[in-house]
Amino acid sequence: MASENIIAALDIGTTKICALVGEMDEEGRIYVIGHGLASADGLRRGVVVDMEKAVKSITRAIEDAQLVSGTEIDSVTVGIAGEHIRSINSHGVVAVSRSDNEITTGDVKRAIEAAKTVAIPVDREIIHVIPQQFSVDDQSGIKDPVGMSGVRLEVEAHIVTASVTTAKNIYRALERCHLDVDHVVLEGLALSHALLAEAESEIGVIVVDIGGDITNLAVFYDGAIRHTGVVSLGEKNVTNDIAIGLRTALKHAEELKQTYGAALASLVDPEEMIPVPAADGTVGKEVSRHVLASIIEPRTEEILSLVIREIKRANIGDLLAGGLILTGGGSLLPGTVELAEQLFDMPVKLGQLTNIDHTPDELQDGRFTAAHGLLIYGFQNEPHQTGHRGQVKSLLKRFENWISKQF
Ligand SMILES: Nc1ncnc2c1ncn2[C@@H]1O[C@H](COP(=O)(O)OP(=O)(O)OP(=O)(O)O)[C@@H](O)[C@H]1O
Ligand SMILES: [Mg+2]
Repeated sequence: MASENIIAALDIGTTKICALVGEMDEEGRIYVIGHGLASADGLRRGVVVDMEKAVKSITRAIEDAQLVSGTEIDSVTVGIAGEHIRSINSHGVVAVSRSDNEITTGDVKRAIEAAKTVAIPVDREIIHVIPQQFSVDDQSGIKDPVGMSGVRLEVEAHIVTASVTTAKNIYRALERCHLDVDHVVLEGLALSHALLAEAESEIGVIVVDIGGDITNLAVFYDGAIRHTGVVSLGEKNVTNDIAIGLRTALKHAEELKQTYGAALASLVDPEEMIPVPAADGTVGKEVSRHVLASIIEPRTEEILSLVIREIKRANIGDLLAGGLILTGGGSLLPGTVELAEQLFDMPVKLGQLTNIDHTPDELQDGRFTAAHGLLIYGFQNEPHQTGHRGQVKSLLKRFENWISKQF
């Protein structure tokens, strides 16, 4: 625990905030050593709408994670998502600088800078510039051009931007919680770190995260992220439909969905009856489980159809031989995979956490994929030599430091 190789991740979702503390051992294995959860009060669709409440929610999640892990969190890798995110594919070209034509890391950096010079409106800030492939003179499809020889270096890059105001409000909320930011990471990108084997991102996959207010999607092929998008519907819309359809309170609708719900009505026994509390909580009527599923199915179908529309719009359907990977709270509903299989002309499976060696059982479902991905991203994008990290200090280490200062 005295290791400095400990970092924290913060997933600010539309329903819940999840803080994770992870430790990496010498072999690069990652263990989740603490977590904290809080409901996402003060946030709507990933945007801060009430600063005081947002600060309280984040603080609660962070404090719990500190307590469980016995660490003090000073900084986090934070996720960003929502309708304010835009992504474009861009192109940069530079002349190779060395007289012997050997390509250096400096050339690569300049090419990426050139790709960034696309017109970005002043109200947007760049979150990621992700190189997809390089070309050297007329040879394309190069992953790492450093050390190769050529006169012209080109890069294809995926550029992700966020609304400046929205991003600033997230930074401000973190500042108010006394947290520095290690990285700001697009949630869709984080998901890939937690779910995808390298081979899958090579052959082409789409990851779909059905959350509370929104559904995030990210497309990978040839080993890089190619497209990201957001559908403005999620599981809260499903719960709303249940509350209206069965004339009950949202709280009861949510419970019914989680206990008896299914996304495909044909999977459910029409004879099975379930109790529906009246809106005031008193004993209400009974309805068949089939009726509940018949409310859930069309809304889930709508969400998935909007994902299909996005894939069609981006013209990438033919490139996704690896199929679709489902995650997020919506993936917990039985029948979602089967429904998606009917709608998409490709294989569908539930996401399984990868690249994490240990995490508590209660964090292993789709709601926590993004948080784990942020943690992995944080580890992969920090220098692994100790001495630089230490934003999350073990209390033991702090105590040692304090002792050494006293004497
Ligand atoms: N067992 C379950 N069955 C069905 N739905 C569930 C279950 N558990 C949670 N959900 C739904 O999942 C939703 C929350 O999902 P998730 O935790 O992935 O969202 P989030 O990360 O807060 O939001 P987002 O990713 O959209 O920002 C809730 O609206 C809830 O209704
Ligand atoms: Mg989420």
